[in-house]
Amino acid sequence: MEPTAPLATDPSVIERIFDHIDHGTTDTAEAVWREPVEHYRSEARFRAEREIVLRRTPTAFCPSAALPTAGSYVARDAAGTPILAVRGIDGRVRAFRNACRHRGTQLVAGTGCQKAFVCRYHGWSYGVDGSLRHVPHEHGFPGLDKSARGLVPVDAVEAQGLVLVTQEARSGRGPVDPLPLLAPPAFRWVDTYEREVPVNWKILVEGFLEGYHIRPTHAQTFYPVQYDNLNVVERFGRNNRITFPYRAVEKLRSVDPAARSADGKLTYVYHLFPNVMVATFPGRILMVALEPEAIDRTRQITYALTDREEGDAEGRARRGGDLIDAGAAEDREVACAIQRSLGSGANEFFEFGLFEGAIGHFHRTLQAALDAARTGA
Ligand code: FES
Ligand SMILES: [Fe+2]
Repeated sequence: MEPTAPLATDPSVIERIFDHIDHGTTDTAEAVWREPVEHYRSEARFRAEREIVLRRTPTAFCPSAALPTAGSYVARDAAGTPILAVRGIDGRVRAFRNACRHRGTQLVAGTGCQKAFVCRYHGWSYGVDGSLRHVPHEHGFPGLDKSARGLVPVDAVEAQGLVLVTQEARSGRGPVDPLPLLAPPAFRWVDTYEREVPVNWKILVEGFLEGYHIRPTHAQTFYPVQYDNLNVVERFGRNNRITFPYRAVEKLRSVDPAARSADGKLTYVYHLFPNVMVATFPGRILMVALEPEAIDRTRQITYALTDREEGDAEGRARRGGDLIDAGAAEDREVACAIQRSLGSGANEFFEFGLFEGAIGHFHRTLQAALDAARTGA
């Protein structure tokens, strides 16, 4: 069992929210952060982020719930590498480079459940444990050692409801930060959707990490049900948790403080360094991976989980989903507007203020990871 992250309990988060409501305050960082605009424009920087940081960091790949049974798989690109995660007959999740060991054909795409992976080109077949099981007309490969030509594994581990993958585990797996329970077992996977956004991946990450923009950006969507610039901001290891309270939290004033539950009263956004968000909503958890495809293009993959039954409750969760979708479209629109200005010459740096401390933590952590890689640490 992994140690749990030192995050505040629901009752103490709610206490801090009431304090902010009563005093017109929000959580603040110790200092502002200035990030050079060049860091969003330099191809060398982009390559280092993707090829060094993302590939060497244990990174959330998909929810465990997306691999419900033996043979369930998720195949997608992560940091530019095609990766396949699959649950074995022994219940263990393994991950592989998604390429046939004959001539490299990708074996599967998307999600599904199979007893074996059979390459569509010449029919080499692999077990869900990655072993090469069958080569048609094997005598054409004299001396072939099938035991040495299984799918190439990458490190995979399940923790707190997620599957984490480390593509380039140097000297074994890097440390996995202690995580809170991110997807409780009652939540099942219902949907995956993808979209490509013409924006640098870090601009999309930043959009999740502060509530300073709630009123101007989300005037008709989130602002009517949430607060402007009122957040609890916590760090755990390289990660962040930002709490976005709903106005309905007021109903908890009359509830015994120790018995106050966050359920239906706030959204937790967990930023899992470097590029994954897990966001909680009533009856719904979304895991969003922001996959850098190019310096100005990001694939956004969203895994939706629910603990609601089919029927009306599900319908309600979906209606909540419409609001989330509308808010997310507003965030994308703003992100595109930032991307379009990067070459304007107006800014040498972007200044993240005291309300945007989680973004400072992100950039500081990213820089530290790049520096550590450069010095070989
Ligand atoms: S490339 Fe897969 S069997 Fe030939
Ligand atoms: Fe937003």
